[in-house]
This record gives sequence, structure tokens and C-alpha cells, in this order.
Amino acid sequence: MDEMDQTPGRGASRRDFLKGGLALGGLVATSVLPSFADDPSLFPVRGRWERLSIGYQHINAGAEKRFAILHISDTHLTAVYPHESAWTRNFMARRSKTFGGRQEEALCDSLAWAKEHVDYVIHTGDLIDAQSEANLDLVRKYYGIGGSAMTGSLGNHEFYHGQKVEDEATKAVSRERLAKAYPFDNTLASTVVNGVNFVTLDNVYNTVTTDQATRFEAEVKKGLPIILCMHCPFGTPHITRCANRYWRRRDLKGVLDVRNWKPHYKDSVTTDFVAYLKAQRLLKGILAGHLHIDIQDRFSPTAMEFLVGGNFLFHGQEITIA
Ligand SMILES: [Fe+2]
Repeated sequence: MDEMDQTPGRGASRRDFLKGGLALGGLVATSVLPSFADDPSLFPVRGRWERLSIGYQHINAGAEKRFAILHISDTHLTAVYPHESAWTRNFMARRSKTFGGRQEEALCDSLAWAKEHVDYVIHTGDLIDAQSEANLDLVRKYYGIGGSAMTGSLGNHEFYHGQKVEDEATKAVSRERLAKAYPFDNTLASTVVNGVNFVTLDNVYNTVTTDQATRFEAEVKKGLPIILCMHCPFGTPHITRCANRYWRRRDLKGVLDVRNWKPHYKDSVTTDFVAYLKAQRLLKGILAGHLHIDIQDRFSPTAMEFLVGGNFLFHGQEITIA
């Protein structure tokens, strides 16, 4: 009961956060979420939350007071307007089947649940499955006017518009278009909640830039506990084994031997950044998605890494933070 009574996120701190959160776009207080769940047609017979799957995790970050967030990722919206290109319409039709076609409902359920159960929401990317006018309008809608709550970390699918090559140059082509829909600095953003610094980072394609590494170091210098939120997880032996199990196409029952596994990044900037991160005692946790499966593993002496499965499956994880 004591725990319940002290659940924070009310009053001035929430209002303060809301101001900062809206300005930075990283997180939005759930108090501003519309009551999607008030439409009873969304929840016939079986109850309001029964089709929603929520996992539970906890991070001891050294927060000024205890609070809870909902972490969701990989919604993979597939909206498209009739006037959009044939490629876009065909791609979205195909991918809508892949993801079940109810992704927006899943997002609405998640946000409605969040409004009643947690203080803040964070979305670690692949909110959309590919760029389309309709998808980017949904992004504006859910981030928008008193709207929903997602983090500032984009996923690889935010950058996708049918291109074959995927690298930093590819991302640069889309960054301005995405900046008009996602109301936050989509390279790196910081939002402080109850004394915890949520740093949202674009590490799509598993790379970071020198500029991002420098900006992250500036966040460390603030001296606050940090929860790093990004789309692509940093590999660990267990995450690698799980990803291999889930995504493998051959030898479906084989279990990867990870005893000699070593991390491998595409460039020295990213390699050095990960090594730097492991040594930061202020790093208290990492939230990521991308693999569409729940996995937890230790990243560093002070930080666990928490991956959340696909939100298109009506799934998210509540994270209590102390
Ligand atoms: Fe992804």
C-alpha cells in the first residue's frame, strides 16, 4: 500500500515535466492523452485491457521519486492515402497483412492504458513501417495536440521509402521530412523526469556519429542518472542468441553458441562510443526495440538493457523507476 500511495507524477512535477517534455518532444505526460478507451466499441465484451499484453521491469536509477513509464516500440503503422504512389500503396497493403492490420488500434489501446496506469510513455521507433503521407499524418496526430506519447528515437523504418542502401547518408535524405512530423530532435534529445535524464538517440543501422557521441558526453556532464532510449539494441551474447533464434531462417531449432561472441560495429566511432558507455556509472538502463521480442540482459556494471516486443502485437512494457 505504501508503494501505491507514493506513486508520483502528480502535481507540479508533472506540469513541469509536461512543459519540458512538449518542448523537447522526447516524452509527453500521459495526463494529456486523449481517452481513446472511452469508445466502448473498441472494447466489446472482453474488457478494456484484456487484449493488451504488458511486461513489467524495474530500474533503480536514483530518481528523486518513484514513477512509472510505458515503453513501447515497433508499431509499424501502414497507413496510405489513395493518391499516393503505386509503390507506396502496394507496399503498405502487403505490410499491413504482415503486421495484422490493427496496428493503430494497438497504439490507441497502449496509450489509453498508459493514461490510467503510468505517468509517461516512451516509443523507441518504427512507429511507422515506411514513409507515406498518411503515416506521417498519424505521427503528427499521435504526437500532436494533447496527443500521444512517444520518445524521440526513430527506427530504421522511419527512414524507409523503398531505398536499397541504408547508411548515414540515407538517413540524411529523410531527416528533414521526418523532423516535420516528429516533434523532437531526431538525432539526440534529453528529457529530465524526476531527476532522471532520458536521452533518446538515433542509432539506426547500428551506428552513431561523432556529433552524437560528443552530445552524449555533454549529457553525462549534467551529472544526472541516464536512461538511454534508442531503436537498435547494443548486442550482448544473450541478445545475439535470442535474435538468432527468433529471426533465423534455417536450422530453426539450432541454438547459437555465443561463448566466443564479440561485439562488432561498423565503424570506430560507434565502437568507441559503446566502450565509453559501458564505463559510465551514470548510465542506469537502456530501452530499445527493433527485434520485436522481449529480452533483458546486462549491458554494463550499472545498466541493464531492456528490449520490448512489437507494439503491433498490442504489447508494451511498464517500467517502474526508483
Ligand atoms: Fe526496427
